[in-house]
Amino acid sequence: MKSFNPNDHPVPFVHRLLLSGVAPRPIALVGTQDREGRVNLSPFSFFNAFGANPPVIVVSPAYRGKDGTTKHSFENIRDTGEFTVSAVSHSMVEQISLASSDYEQGEDEFLKAGFGKLTSDIVAPPGVAEAPFVMECRLLHHFDTGAKPGSGNLMIAEVVMFHVRESAFEGDRIDPRRLDLVARMGYNWYCRANGDALFELPKPAHNGIGIDALPQHLRESDILTGNNLARLASVVEIPDGEEILLRWKEDLQGIDPAQTPADMFDVELRLGEAHRAVLSVFAAWKRQELRANECSRRLQHCTRLALDQNQMSLAWECALMSDPEAVAALSVTR
Ligand SMILES: Cc1cc2nc3c(=O)[nH]c(=O)nc-3n(C[C@H](O)[C@H](O)[C@H](O)COP(=O)(O)O)c2cc1C
Repeated sequence: MKSFNPNDHPVPFVHRLLLSGVAPRPIALVGTQDREGRVNLSPFSFFNAFGANPPVIVVSPAYRGKDGTTKHSFENIRDTGEFTVSAVSHSMVEQISLASSDYEQGEDEFLKAGFGKLTSDIVAPPGVAEAPFVMECRLLHHFDTGAKPGSGNLMIAEVVMFHVRESAFEGDRIDPRRLDLVARMGYNWYCRANGDALFELPKPAHNGIGIDALPQHLRESDILTGNNLARLASVVEIPDGEEILLRWKEDLQGIDPAQTPADMFDVELRLGEAHRAVLSVFAAWKRQELRANECSRRLQHCTRLALDQNQMSLAWECALMSDPEAVAALSVTR
């Protein structure tokens, strides 16, 4: 690991470091008004939500790195106590980048960036009409983290009204694919929350046994990843290995190696055919074409595939049978 003490490095370096590792960050497109009612719109990725009761968000317009001056968004929120936060869809990303330009005080960035205004119900500043999700916010607290170039202004605010585009809903739930939000990474990188970037992971329904309680041959595997082990360790108890061994011995006896292609293991894996991959391991084992160690390794590859496919019981069977002792016990059948 390379280690960096922020005190030993210039602020721009620390800024880039922080932004690369604290990512992806959601982007708040912040609408404000100055005391004269002139609107302002700017994106901020120092932004997140903190608690739902009351719903609280924090956005941080920092002191400018080059001269330590404050941003218009900050001044407007400080002066009026109100702002809107619009979420940013992929279709808006070039426009928000344009809105981040240093326009003069009082210049309407809704117009500059080509956005329409969504009239707010409670606060004065408008939201962005093109955004699929808009929050009206009231300042609760301002925390200044340093009053120096590059330091932050935490604008802690309560959300007093939400507006969500109807087409974002699938039934009574918001479907992230319909929001198509973008997030900010380090340097000039953004990321898009859609397609392969999205996946679902159900919350644990109970306390799993934990990775430390997995059999040693699994914990020490160089095939199973940390994610694989975590999935295996999410069960409440380890399945009965003896019972599985008995069943597998029967299966192995029933296999006619002449009928089961033993050399198809790689193909079956590639095709995502976990059960067929196991059968080809059986066949190769029965023909004595595999050494015990290779048999274990192949069974762990089957474990991975079964886990990827949510076939938990097959995954656990392969995982337990990949124990060198279990493989040795299988060889009695051969
Ligand atoms: C995607 C994106 C995220 C940004 N995040 C922040 C941020 O969190 N804090 C900040 O001070 N500036 C951030 N900026 C830069 C501001 O948007 C920029 O300084 C803007 O001109 C401020 O405008 P204002 O003076 O009208 O408030 C970001 C810019 C972009 C494009």
